[in-house]
Formats: sequence, structure tokens, C-alpha cells
Amino acid sequence: EETGKAGYDHFMQKEINEQPRSLRQGLSERVDELAGEVDIGDLAYLNPRGVQLVACGTSYHAALYGAALFREAGVPAQAFLAHEYASAPPPVGDDLVIGVTQSGETADTLSALRAARSKGATTLAVTNVVGSTAARECDHVFYIKAGPEIGVAATKTFASQLTALNLLATGMVPTKDDRESIAALRDLPADVQEVLDDSSAEAVAEEYLDSDAYFFLGRGLQYPVALEGALKMKEITYKHAEGFAAGELKHGPLALVTANTPVFALVTGDGEQARKTIGNVKEVEARDAPVVAVTDGQSDVERYADHVLTVPESSPRTAAVLSNVQLQLAAYHTAAKLGRSIDKPRNLAKSVTVE
Ligand code: G6P
Repeated sequence: EETGKAGYDHFMQKEINEQPRSLRQGLSERVDELAGEVDIGDLAYLNPRGVQLVACGTSYHAALYGAALFREAGVPAQAFLAHEYASAPPPVGDDLVIGVTQSGETADTLSALRAARSKGATTLAVTNVVGSTAARECDHVFYIKAGPEIGVAATKTFASQLTALNLLATGMVPTKDDRESIAALRDLPADVQEVLDDSSAEAVAEEYLDSDAYFFLGRGLQYPVALEGALKMKEITYKHAEGFAAGELKHGPLALVTANTPVFALVTGDGEQARKTIGNVKEVEARDAPVVAVTDGQSDVERYADHVLTVPESSPRTAAVLSNVQLQLAAYHTAAKLGRSIDKPRNLAKSVTVE
């Protein structure tokens, strides 16, 4: 097992650092930058009337992101926790139901996919494991090609799920903005490498090791990343952490914010969403909470931040992947400094095969 870690202290650390390579694998032969197109094979012709995504845990956060991309392209889409799928509107014939599952074996997700199939929907597995149950049972499969992931806390597979969903949405429903986001996909592995090389997440982890709780704020495509940042922090540090849609803060969570609850704010770009999230950052700053801004430097969020975790400028879709790398590192270093069982957190399993 030690040799499998390739010199890293933990599989999770190795897998975080492998992301440039795993992303390259997942993008290889699927992006035609010259033509401004992606190649997702026959899936490009599915032409769904609506899309439902079903998933659990980290994969559910990827599903939220995927649903947002389809909606941006004009296709009605919604993500469901697989174990809550019974209360979803039943899919009809031209609907596509996408199961996002790294392992392809999560019982809740398999069961939702079977229910969708029995209603006549077309099903697609987005998975990492060739020949997994989801891959075999669905009508179609799209492999994320992240390579094996040993750490219980999903890291590189989440990044690969986001890029796979990016490819699928672009390939199924082309839009006028594709050229920019396809160019950003091409640059993504190198941009992730830059984050890994330059991150100051370890210093942030050190500074806030004794905090009561950690909060994560994001808006739009950064909202699922905020949820994922909090989940990672909970899973491996056993500390309280919560992710919020930035705008929801004032509707309750603000009551929890104190000088001992660092707030990670995801602010990329310089548009309306960034401006509004900066408004939320000012609200927490006024309550003396330390602010850690994860930003590409396009806005002035740094003015209100105690720490800055920088990501390269990118497109909104890929900015989510880049910001997430900083949050992975923050959770990892916090857990490492606390001496937690990082690769096998208490009570958790890599894949949950019971409902
Ligand atoms: C377990 C793991 C999580 C994972 C979830 C879904 O709960 O501990 O890390 O996100 O299952 O797994 P899947 O294989 O379906 O993506």
C-alpha cells in the first residue's frame, strides 16, 4: 500500500495531485478545439427533451453542476438525490436520466436508474468504473476516465465528473459560448497544475485549525462547489462544515457566523454573480468572521478577505473545477494537521451498496 502512494503521505493527497493527468485522460480525443466542438460519439444525437440527474454524496454535487449546464443551454434539467428520486416528477419517453456515480455501484443510484428505466426514460451512466453495474444496466455509458481512486473522500473523480458533464452538455446542446469554454477545457489540466504548485491552502489550514466550524459560500456554478468543499471538510476532519448558496446566508445561516467560523467565499469572474457574492462577503466580514476568498483576481473581493487562495482566470465552467482544488487542499491539510484517518474516515465507505 505504501508504494501505491508514490511518495505521498495519503492516497487522497496523491489523488488531488494527480488531477492534471486524470483530467487530461478524460479530455483526450473528446475535444476538437480547432472545430470548436467536443466529441461524445453517438451521445451527441440523444436530443433530450428534459434531463434528470440522480446521484449521492460528492456525485450529487457534480449532478447539481451538470443540471445547471443543461439549463444554461436551454434544456430543462434537475438534479435529485437518488434516495429522494421517488418524489421526483416521473420521467417521460424523451427524457434522459443520468446516473452520476463514480463507482457505478451505489445502491441508491442504481435503484433510481432502474425506476427511471421502468418508466420508459433513456438512461446514461456517468461513471469511472468500466463494466460496473450502472455501466451495464444503463442504455448508455460515458466514462469519466479518472483512473482508480482509493481515498474514501472523492477528489479527482469529482473533477472528472464535472468535466465529463461539461463535455456531455456541450456535445448534446451546443451553444454560442462553446468556443470559450472548450478553450478553457484545453487549458484546464495546466491550470489545475498551477493551483497545485502555488496554493497557500496549507497556511490557511494551519491558521484556522481551532475553528468551531467552517462555512463555504458560492453562487451559480460555484454553489455545488461550496457544498462539496463543506462535505470534504466534514468527511476527513470531523469538524462542522456547511456549504451555502451565497444569497441564502442572510436567510438564517448568518446567525452562526462568528469570529471563530472562517468563511470560504468562491468568487471568480467580475460579473453580477461575483458582485453579489462580494455583498455576502461584506456581511460576514461585518460579523468579524475570517474570510478566505477563492478567486481569480478579476473582482475586488481581496479587499474584504483575510486570505486569498488564487486560481487562474478561466471560464465559469472550469473555474468551478479550479476553485474546488483549493478547497480539497484546505480540507486535506486541516485533516493532516489534526492527525485524522484521511484515507479511511470513520463510519464511511468508498461505495455504499445498500439502500
Ligand atoms: C459514498 C462515498 C462518497 C461518494 C458516494 C457516492 O458515500 O463515501 O464519497 O460520493 O458514496 O458514490 P458514487 O460511487 O455513486 O459516486
